[in-house]
Amino acid sequence: MPDQRFKTLDDMHDIAGKPVLVREDLNVPMQNGVVSDDTRLRATVATLTELADAHAKVLVLAHFGRPKGHASDELSLRPIADALGDVLGRHVGFLASPERHAVDALANGSITVLENSRFFPGEEKNDPALIQQMAALGDFYVNDAFSAAHRAHVTTEGLAGVLPAFAGRAMEAELKALEAALGNPEHPVAAVVGGAKVSSKLDVLTHLVTKVDHLIIGGGMANTFLAARGVDVGKSLCEHDLTDTANSILDAADAANCTVHLPYDVVVAKKFAAGADNRTVNVHEVGSDEMILDIGMSAVEALSDVLKTCKTLVWNGPLGAFEMEPFDRATVALAQTAAALTREGSLVSVAGGGDTVAALNHAGAARDFSFVSTAGGAFLEWMEGKELPGVKALEA
Ligand code: 3PG
Repeated sequence: MPDQRFKTLDDMHDIAGKPVLVREDLNVPMQNGVVSDDTRLRATVATLTELADAHAKVLVLAHFGRPKGHASDELSLRPIADALGDVLGRHVGFLASPERHAVDALANGSITVLENSRFFPGEEKNDPALIQQMAALGDFYVNDAFSAAHRAHVTTEGLAGVLPAFAGRAMEAELKALEAALGNPEHPVAAVVGGAKVSSKLDVLTHLVTKVDHLIIGGGMANTFLAARGVDVGKSLCEHDLTDTANSILDAADAANCTVHLPYDVVVAKKFAAGADNRTVNVHEVGSDEMILDIGMSAVEALSDVLKTCKTLVWNGPLGAFEMEPFDRATVALAQTAAALTREGSLVSVAGGGDTVAALNHAGAARDFSFVSTAGGAFLEWMEGKELPGVKALEA
């Protein structure tokens, strides 16, 4: 999507002293009351500091968990507001309920987090009464939370219909990167899709074969495709009931001139455990008591050669059981190749969704990718070619 299709902070004028509602994604992992990964908090810094430095009264809207309209201490945003203050290096206030007089009393240039939006029963229903109540709190609405944009809720979609609406800096960067990866990419384009199950990524695969030149399939889902091609995958994770579906995806890829890459050598073990005895075999030599836990190194070399011919890469999901050594090798090796090609300037690489960020961090490759999305479900829906309601609502 070209960025002219939505307004950004550059288009906001005369905001000093005015309340600005900013939707961020503060849905961060917590362990024992402490934020265990602050990536999403760091993603808010550009927008929140820019607006506060322009002397706006910044009111952050966000959800945490899935409280389904019921307030609870466990899912309060209060501790996350404190953690956000640490990341921003400035005081962050907290507001328990959405009242305009409390917003009016905020200092110019201050940043305040409103309690978990999902404590309000109308939030997930995109309830018009709550839209009006929330809209009365601010003069402008900024959506900076791409990772929540697949939800049509009051704070992600509804407010954009009633207040002047703008994309925040993180949202803007995300939309630009995604446009460069799949919207209007430089060809050839490769997609790496890994993960356990074909069933969870059917729509992703079906959409990608029409968009990319090379589809690299790894993880457990590759086994289903191998089985569809008549390979005996032994005890591997495999959705045998989806082999027809896998064949239809392969046919659709053929029709669209998309080359699908399945591994021809694989790493197998008899136990699903870190450090399990393993061997690398041709896919036709998997024993009936063995399971495929990673792609083999010959296949990785061939895939690296494919990436060297490509201009754009979009990556979702690991190639093997990357959380258990040594079955992380293929993911690490291919991610490092992609990182090196990106550093050299020959590849635009965009990654996101679920385990992907953890896998690329593990490979030490994430910082060299052109863009790594903090989104999980939203990234997948975007890869499925779906229009995200939170993004659509920002379009002018
Ligand atoms: C996420 O964690 O992916 C987003 O914050 C969206 O959360 P949700 O899946 O609960 O809507």
